[in-house]
Amino acid sequence: MVEIITIDGPASVGKSTLAKKISNYYKVPLLNSGRLYRAVALKMINNKINIRNKYKILHCAQTLTNENMNSQDLFSSKIDKIASEISKKKYLRDQLKIYQREFPKKYTGKKFVVIEGRDIGTEIFPHAKIKIFMWADAKIRAKRRYLQFLKKGGNARLKRIYHEIVSRDINDLNRKIAPLQPAVNSVLLDTSYLDIEQAFSVLKKIISE
Ligand code: DC
Repeated sequence: MVEIITIDGPASVGKSTLAKKISNYYKVPLLNSGRLYRAVALKMINNKINIRNKYKILHCAQTLTNENMNSQDLFSSKIDKIASEISKKKYLRDQLKIYQREFPKKYTGKKFVVIEGRDIGTEIFPHAKIKIFMWADAKIRAKRRYLQFLKKGGNARLKRIYHEIVSRDINDLNRKIAPLQPAVNSVLLDTSYLDIEQAFSVLKKIISE
């Protein structure tokens, strides 16, 4: 089977940016597993599905398409909130686990695949070759996100972003099923005082070794 590199960590730590850089540099496939939860949340909003409707939520997960996963509407505060809530549900995690475990099988000819999320190195691929656990202080993550919003011309409030990040951390770290935690044999990458290029250099070194 193709080798797997997992990158787990909290919201806004830079996992997707780093994972994308690796994917482009080594020309290998990338799965942002958060998009699965976001795509289910978006379908729930569009179809007015109640958060307690197990049957319909499962149906959303079973019928996910590439188009759903690549929607422009996956990133908003509302989606952040619903995705975070539904990610506590075991039946949904079990369903999405199937999709994630199938992903590398499509790329047997590749050097490796990169998968980022919260539980990839712990639950989804505990035997992955390289496991990275990214971390950064919540205040620093909030400030980065805030600056990203400003750069895009949006208006945002730092305090609100900070509170949203902390609330998602609480959900991710404390949920009973597949909580966010470093995997056995993972490398801790604290990017509080590293920029993305520095983090990328560290990762290239890990991969080359
Ligand atoms: O990484 P992200 O912000 O796009 O993730 C969206 C939500 O999905 C977030 O609340 C955490 C959840 N998630 C999860 O529980 N497990 C994963 N492997 C990936 C994301």
